Amino acid sequence: MPELSVAVVAGDVEQRSVMQVMVDGTGVARTRQTFATYPVATTDPVLRKIHATNPDVVIVDIPSDSLAALRAIELIHQEMPGSAVFALGSMSQPQIIVSAMRSGAREFIERPTTTTDLLEAFVRLSAAQRKVQREEVRGRVFTVVNAKGGSGATTIAVNLSLALQSAHSNVALVDIAPLGHAALHLNLKPAFTVANAIQNLHRLDSSLLESLTTRHGSGVQLLAGTTIPMVVEPTTAEFARLFDMLVSHFRYVVVDASSRVDPTTRLVSNLSQTVLITAHSDVASLWSAAKIQQYLGETGGRERLQLVLNRFHKTPGFTEADAASAAGMKLLWKIPNQYFAASSAIDRGIPLMQQRNSDIARSFIALASRLTESDIEVKRAAWSMFKIG
Ligand SMILES: Nc1ncnc2c1ncn2[C@@H]1O[C@H](COP(=O)(O)OP(=O)(O)OP(=O)(O)O)[C@@H](O)[C@H]1O
Ligand SMILES: [Mg+2]
Repeated sequence: MPELSVAVVAGDVEQRSVMQVMVDGTGVARTRQTFATYPVATTDPVLRKIHATNPDVVIVDIPSDSLAALRAIELIHQEMPGSAVFALGSMSQPQIIVSAMRSGAREFIERPTTTTDLLEAFVRLSAAQRKVQREEVRGRVFTVVNAKGGSGATTIAVNLSLALQSAHSNVALVDIAPLGHAALHLNLKPAFTVANAIQNLHRLDSSLLESLTTRHGSGVQLLAGTTIPMVVEPTTAEFARLFDMLVSHFRYVVVDASSRVDPTTRLVSNLSQTVLITAHSDVASLWSAAKIQQYLGETGGRERLQLVLNRFHKTPGFTEADAASAAGMKLLWKIPNQYFAASSAIDRGIPLMQQRNSDIARSFIALASRLTESDIEVKRAAWSMFKIG
């Protein structure tokens, strides 16, 4: 881990020197400079001086009279987005902890602090930074849309995300359905939803995004859907920004659009590598799939729209080629019809993928590997070049 540079802001002289010794004592960080006054405005020369030291971390000591320190945290967070702010204060005042975090502090460290506490906070920070750097490779989006309500979009999105997670990890499941059911399928009780992410777009960074998701036992991180209609429908521009953030943080983003067919689903489809249009093999379902394909493809990129036949069973006189031509798109996948397993998985909140030895779980594993085939080719190519070099 590279050495972190630190600036300390503390009104108290003793506190400044104690912090310097402790920071340097961690062995992973070094104090560049300490400051005795809290900046009060964007034009404050102290703020400029802190800026000039270009620190990875600014530690701000919060005395019992906390106002100036909290304002300083807010200013530093705003004006120096590349630096993390660690607040240092007493744990006995929860209101101050909350205010410090709201002002933009990344960590709240208890005073009197120990070198171990500091070391842990520094390690957490650099692990998060490494993650951001690693993920400069943009993640890929797969969107699942129903041809007709109840065709199985949520079942497919949930199980596909679990299959991707077990093969590659770092997967998000984003529920943009009109009424989000994904949490129910995963037996999760999310505290936040897509609506919270949209409301906080102006300050949405990787760590906030992370905290708005709900982690499933498999490791999949769910950005849950709304359970009540949103008061103000977010604009497509807002969704575009949210997805920009999602792909810079996650390797794979699976979207459950279910029966939502509107400009947002079309936008998300355009951002997707593949859109899985889910239908049954009957005439009405395939007719609907064709209509949805036309609507989503109006703005281009039709080749990414592909048909998934759910609850598939062979019908005499009706071939898979017939289904693909009725729907007007390529057949990507067929998922077997296992009604009992599928509905009891939903009722129990234990996804099909967690019953690994079933045909249907194998089908999702194979679907995940089909969708990531080209990624693996890229990795292999890189590996063989590496070996030759
Ligand atoms: N492969 C399958 N075999 C049998 N039944 C299935 C299969 N996939 C889904 N189902 C059943 O279809 C029903 C609808 O599934 P699900 O909730 O996943 O669909 P949905 O298309 O997302 O629904 P909605 O339109 O309400 O969002 C459920 O009862 C589920 O058990
Ligand atoms: Mg659904």
